[in-house]
Amino acid sequence: MLKYKVISKSKGETQALAAKIVRLLKPSSVVLLTGDLGAGKTTFVGGALKELGYQDHVVSPTFNILKCYFEVQPNVFHIDAYRLEDQNIDIGLEEFLEGEGISFVEWPNFIEKILPRKTITIKITRISDNEREFELSSDSEMYREVFDSLEGK
Ligand SMILES: Nc1ncnc2c1ncn2[C@@H]1O[C@H](COP(=O)(O)OP(=O)(O)OP(=O)(O)O)[C@@H](O)[C@H]1O
Ligand SMILES: [Mg+2]
Repeated sequence: MLKYKVISKSKGETQALAAKIVRLLKPSSVVLLTGDLGAGKTTFVGGALKELGYQDHVVSPTFNILKCYFEVQPNVFHIDAYRLEDQNIDIGLEEFLEGEGISFVEWPNFIEKILPRKTITIKITRISDNEREFELSSDSEMYREVFDSLEGK
C-alpha cells in the first residue's frame, strides 16, 4: 500500500498540492476524495483544474452529479455522488471513469459498485478552520510517481 500524509494550512496550500499532484497523474487516473462536508474536496479539484489552465471558478457539481472539462488536457471529469446516495441508479458514469481523462470523485462511497480497480484515495480531515490533513493512499503501482515525488524521491 502506498501512503503519504501532509498538512495544508490554507486553501492556497491545498490548491498548490492539487496542482502538484495533477501533473503526476497518468491518463485514466481516478482520484477518490473523501472527507466531511466542507473538508476541501471541491477546493482540491479547483486547484487541479487551475493548474491545467481552467480559468473560471470551479463549483461543486452536487446538483449535476457530473461536470466534464473538455477544455483542459487531459480532460477532467468531476463527479459528486452526494445526491445519488445509495440509490444504485445507473446513469452511465462508468463511461467517464474508464475513459482517458482524469476523474475526481467526491463521495465515492455512493458509487462504490462502479468504481474501477486502480484508484488513489485522498482522505481530507479538518483539523481547524484553516488546517486540513491530507492522507493519500493507493493499492495501485499506477500512482507510484505521485508518492515518490511527494516524498522527494
Ligand atoms: N486548508 C484548507 N484547504 C481547503 N479548504 C480550506 C482550507 N482552509 C479552509 N478551507 C475552506 O473550507 C471550505 C472547503 O469547501 P469545499 O467546497 O472545498 O468542501 P467539500 O469537501 O467539497 O464539501 P462538500 O462535501 O460539501 O462538497 C472552503 O470554504 C475553503 O475556503
Ligand atoms: Mg464539494
